Amino acid sequence: MTALTDTANALVSTGHGILAADESVATMSKRLEAAGITASEVARRDYRALLLTTPHLADWISGVIFCDETLRQSLADGTPVPEAARALGLQAGIKVDTGVARLPFTDGEVITHGLDGLDARLAEYRAMGATFAKWRGVLAPSGLSQRGVRTNAHVLARYAALCQEAGIVPIVEPEVLMDGDHGIALCEAVTGNVLAAVFEELDRMGVDPRAIVLKPNMVIAGTGQAGPTPPAEVAARTVKVLRAKVPAAVPGIAFLSGGQSNERACANLAAINAQAAGDGGAEWRLTFSFGRALVDDALRTWHGDPAQEAAAQAALAANCARAAAASDARPLETLPA
Ligand code: 13P
Repeated sequence: MTALTDTANALVSTGHGILAADESVATMSKRLEAAGITASEVARRDYRALLLTTPHLADWISGVIFCDETLRQSLADGTPVPEAARALGLQAGIKVDTGVARLPFTDGEVITHGLDGLDARLAEYRAMGATFAKWRGVLAPSGLSQRGVRTNAHVLARYAALCQEAGIVPIVEPEVLMDGDHGIALCEAVTGNVLAAVFEELDRMGVDPRAIVLKPNMVIAGTGQAGPTPPAEVAARTVKVLRAKVPAAVPGIAFLSGGQSNERACANLAAINAQAAGDGGAEWRLTFSFGRALVDDALRTWHGDPAQEAAAQAALAANCARAAAASDARPLETLPA
């Protein structure tokens, strides 16, 4: 496991986080069209290439998560994407789930698909240069059943076990959605319940907690609630849940942004780190694996116009720098054992 734990530690190394640029072809196409850009394989490649080649990206970012299409693409100069990432000092990650489908005998809950044939796909991705993977479970706090919690935890754990066996570090992402009218107390209770089930299943499947990265939601009120939750409250509730449910052996926790703005997600991450430090320091590193909170400004600025590339990269760099500044600043060797 040494190589895997090294990879996991590097993904959450001091002042660094993970860039999630792994939208599926359908989602990415929708986002391009919404930004006034005609979606095509080349447009999706050019956009991801723009993100990847942002000057100094590796100052703040340890790894970039891609989707299958991007991992197989090459930059305009012919360099395969995984090779380009490595040359830039970035680990290449791959989203391996294939999206969600209805979970039978529930009221609209979903289960993530993608386990069939996953061992073969992981071997191929590993050979292509991917060092880590991502799988996202999606849980809506209102109306969530134990069936939904248990089933999502089970498939996350089976995915994680297959990854470790294939020599790939799994990002374990059980996302309790921000969408909805629920209050922060329900998000806290559900997040705790979900994390408990996830770690129970990971243990049952033999997954080594030292060689994963946990990617949870922050504990936050639903978007339907009036006004955003103050960062100090997000931080207090988030750290409390994580302390209760996440084993100390996990090297790092990299939060998703869940649709928060860069400013809000970074304010919350900074508050979470301050809270953990105030409580005597967390056992795991607390950082980010944001998608939209990092890339939205760049996409808007780019607009598919080559003349705007540098400005778009500057927007991404500014957002990454802000997130890195809000992430854990402790050197690895100073973390409590
Ligand atoms: P957001 O930060 O946009 O929520 O995306 C992170 C992610 O990877 C979701 O799976």
